[in-house]
Amino acid sequence: MATTPAPLHVLLLISFALSLLAPASCSGTIHPPPPPPPPVINRYVLAVHKDGATGLHVANVAKRTPQKPIPHLVDLNGGMVWEHCDERRYLSSTFYVPPFGDYLCSPAGKAQFRRTCSGSAAPAAPDRPGCHNNSCGILPVNPVTKHRVVAELSIDMFSILATRGSNPGRPIRFCKFYFACAPASLLRPGLPVGVHGVAGLGHTPISLQSQLASHCGFPPKFALCLTSMSSNDNTGVIFFGDGPYNMLPGVDVSSGLLYTPLTFRRRGKYFIEVRSIKINQKPVPLNASLLGNGRTRISTTTPYTILEHSIFIAVARLFTRELSDIPQAELIPPFPACYERARFSSTRLGPGVPFIEFVMQDEDTVWTIFGANSMVEARPEILCLAFIDGGSQPKDPIVIGAHQFEDNLLQFDVGRSRLGFSSSLLLRRTNCANFNFTSVASQAE
Ligand SMILES: *[C@@H]1O[C@H](CO)[C@@H](O)[C@H](O)[C@H]1NC(C)=O
Ligand SMILES: *[C@@H]1O[C@H](CO)[C@@H](O)[C@H](O)[C@H]1NC(C)=O
Ligand SMILES: *[C@@H]1O[C@H](CO)[C@@H](O)[C@H](O)[C@H]1NC(C)=O
Repeated sequence: MATTPAPLHVLLLISFALSLLAPASCSGTIHPPPPPPPPVINRYVLAVHKDGATGLHVANVAKRTPQKPIPHLVDLNGGMVWEHCDERRYLSSTFYVPPFGDYLCSPAGKAQFRRTCSGSAAPAAPDRPGCHNNSCGILPVNPVTKHRVVAELSIDMFSILATRGSNPGRPIRFCKFYFACAPASLLRPGLPVGVHGVAGLGHTPISLQSQLASHCGFPPKFALCLTSMSSNDNTGVIFFGDGPYNMLPGVDVSSGLLYTPLTFRRRGKYFIEVRSIKINQKPVPLNASLLGNGRTRISTTTPYTILEHSIFIAVARLFTRELSDIPQAELIPPFPACYERARFSSTRLGPGVPFIEFVMQDEDTVWTIFGANSMVEARPEILCLAFIDGGSQPKDPIVIGAHQFEDNLLQFDVGRSRLGFSSSLLLRRTNCANFNFTSVASQAE
């Protein structure tokens, strides 16, 4: 059983008091001038792997005491970090549940409520992680099923690797990391097998990126570089803080980005404005009134881009017309058109198919999608156009899914309300699995 230790602020006070008692150095001698303070490391990296079965991306988040890597689904638009707290498995000496009304609950804002737990919900065991009376209740959501449940705001230790931009250095520990302790029922169905929670990166006070930025005192800014490869030895990366973000063989992928305005809506979700779409530089005929006002959402929990029905039809029609001299293979739902791989040349940017452009605020701000991101191998040797029909009344006319930005860098500059995007890093002869995760912690920091 996890125990509830002394309140965290008491522990912090004690450790502060002990640090005052540490022996003073160089007593009795003339003090040499102090060495210059080491440059502050305020950039962090989190390794992310792709789950082959769902096409979604998972990060091992190091938490608890003793520390344990806990697999969390990466949810760009998630408002918090949540984990399921099974009473037998959640063992941590630094776990703490602040009481309702305590200042420690204030980051959860108005969304919280006084929580009671009768213990009647299975498994019945009062006073366990996730089941306390008079705690701060919040409502985490499963981003795949959209299911929402009552959970408890909780605090525990969290650790992440610091970096100067090239290899990770030592892990940095944070003792006051907020997350929601949710029942296991929130996990299924829909999330990748083995995942224990969800790491939300939304524009909210208790998302992972906001907590890191406020703990470390940098403006909220993070970047996704998700890998297209689902094998175990390939990991993509999320950078927290500013660039450089160096990828082998020595490419700073934070340079040369294009920027477009980023807006935050509906509980801190991320939106940009795609004004028009082109295929082989020809405009896709679209009802422009569908697209205005920054209505394109970016999502890591959607494997493929979802288009409102009329946009989907128009994109599929122009794409197949541009390929009208190539016979289509048998259709594989839900994709609109499929071809044999052998019909296309193979290029550095994937199969040589017509390229798709998302045109942003002006004609120079264009996100170009090449074959590696527009086509998916739905069956061996069969490539399909990786876009999905969202029906005629979707909440958002375009939801850009993970497949379309794998091996691209997307930098969410939340402080300046802008998205930096690289288009395919394959153009720059690197990819998102090329961050060198070999630790250099033993070297002088
Ligand atoms: C919460 O209070 C209710 C009613 O007093 C009680 O039945 C329940 O066991 C308590 N739960 C816990 C976790 O202590
Ligand atoms: C364009 O979309 C708007 C908003 O959905 C709709 O009201 C209008 O009828 C559409 N126009 C055409 C020509 O389809
Ligand atoms: C990764 O970094 C380590 C430590 O600096 C270095 O020894 C190694 O050669 C690097 N790997 C590659 C593939 O460059």
